[in-house]
Formats: sequence, structure tokens, C-alpha cells
Amino acid sequence: MVERVLEAVAAVAPEVRAGLPGRRVYDADENPSGEKQLAADVYADQLFEERLLALNAVGSYASEERESVIEADEGDTYHLAVDPLDGSSNLKSNNAMGTIVAVYDEPLPARGEHLVASAFVLYGPITTMTVAHDGTVTEYVVDESGDRTVVDDDVTLPDDPVVYGFGGRVPDWLDDFEAYAREIEQELKLRYGGAMIADVNQVLEYGGVFAYPALDSAPNGKLRLQFEGNPIGHIVETAGGASSDGARSLLDVEPTELHQRVPVHIGNTSLVERLEDALE
Ligand code: AHG
Ligand code: MN
Ligand code: MN
Repeated sequence: MVERVLEAVAAVAPEVRAGLPGRRVYDADENPSGEKQLAADVYADQLFEERLLALNAVGSYASEERESVIEADEGDTYHLAVDPLDGSSNLKSNNAMGTIVAVYDEPLPARGEHLVASAFVLYGPITTMTVAHDGTVTEYVVDESGDRTVVDDDVTLPDDPVVYGFGGRVPDWLDDFEAYAREIEQELKLRYGGAMIADVNQVLEYGGVFAYPALDSAPNGKLRLQFEGNPIGHIVETAGGASSDGARSLLDVEPTELHQRVPVHIGNTSLVERLEDALE
């Protein structure tokens, strides 16, 4: 049943990619997180809503771009949280972006432990899709017709970390996080591109740590638990790494409302544990 959802996501991906060139302008509206919406955000969101809500198993569709959950007429097995375009501000500068689809078996907002599958599409030089399901992370190439070919059937974080990427402005970091960052920058190579999916994929490929931490100006950071933190935490933990809000696995964070933000830290377990020690 989950496979039908994943097939539909892959099938939409080429249409999202094809629709990007003409949609690099900001709409008048803001999303529920108070951020400007690109025409591409709205376009991708409409495509995913239409194709995913049509599936029998899908009971509801929630999007980073919409205030509330959209209930399906029928179907109650899966409840989807979708970030239609992650890193959409990269569209104007033609840098990588992604789509995130979280498949929960409980109505939203739900704890990460209720994730049945988590997937992201990466619109890079190649369109790939990475899926955590049944204890394994699989990476596919998605072709122009939306068909997938497995390129890695057991994505696992390398033992030796190589890259790091930290969001937010340095003067806005909390002191304990800054001290941790100063250590990490002596050990690893900086890779930060402004789209979480692309930055996380560098960590999955090379090993390391990605964080969008709590900030003085934003104590819960920028990223959203239901749409970004939970699915990415699920994928990285399934790939043998760790995730944290600074104190606990992202999958253990109590959901209070659909668009709640959470500090996100993911990567090799040793690096995430060092971070939690630093923030204690
Ligand atoms: P989205 O485009 O879905 O709002 O996500 C953008 C997020 C995330 O992809 C990225 O890690 C972060 O915003 C980048 O934020 P900064 O521009 O503050 O670096
Ligand atoms: Mn996002
Ligand atoms: Mn988005």
C-alpha cells in the first residue's frame, strides 16, 4: 500500500521539475509559517495534493503551504505531510531543491514514531528519490516518465564524517551551539547550500552533520517537525545515523500543532551525541 504512495510521488517529480522554469516569481500570499510563497511552491503543492489524495489508502493531506489538513472523502490508512518544495528560495539562484513526503499511520500532527515511510526527491543534476521504509533506506534515480531505478538498496552513513552544514546566522547561534560549531569547523568541510534535502543528502553520502539549530531569534529554529524534522530524522536514523532536537531523537518530540518548528540536528551518531552533550 505504501508503494502506491511512493510510486505517485515519483510520477509527479518530473512534472514538478518541468514546471520550475516558469515559476521563479513570488506570489502575493505567505505560507502558514509566514514565509513568502513562490509560484513553484503553490504549483508543486497542487500537483501533489491532487495525485496523492486520489489514492484509496490516503486519508488526509497536509502541506507546509496550507494552514490545515485536507481530509480525503474516503481512505484512512495513511496521513501525509508534504513539503512540496524544500529550499524553494534556491530556485532563483538555480541551486538544488527537494520535495519531502512523510507517510504517517496516525492523523496529524503525529509523533515521528508513527512514520510508516519517509521519502525525499532531490532535484539535482539528476532527479533522485530516497526512501526509508521497513528499516531500510533505498535510493532511486527517477527518469522523465517518473519510473524509478534502484541505485543503492541499503543507504548507510559512512563511519568517517567528512562534511558539515549549519543554518542560521552565526551571531544568532546560541553560545553552546557556537562552541560546538567552532570544534566541528576544525574537523570537517563546510557544505551548506540552503536546501535541507540537498545538504542532508551530502551527509548521507559522505558522513557528517547538518543542523538548523535553535537561534536567539527563533528558539525552536526554522524547520517544521511534521514536514521536515520527522521524515529526515526517520531517514537518517534508518541509515544508521542519529537525529536530535538538541536533547532527544526528533522522532520522540511531542507534536503540539501542525506547523510547529523544531531545532534539527542530524548525522553521524558520534557527532549528534557530542552536540547533545554541548547543549546540556
Ligand atoms: P522551505 O523552502 O521548504 O521553506 O525550506 C527551506 C529551509 C530548508 O530547506 C533549509 O535548510 C533552510 O530553509 C535554509 O534556511 P536559510 O535560508 O535561513 O539558510
Ligand atoms: Mn522545507
Ligand atoms: Mn517548502
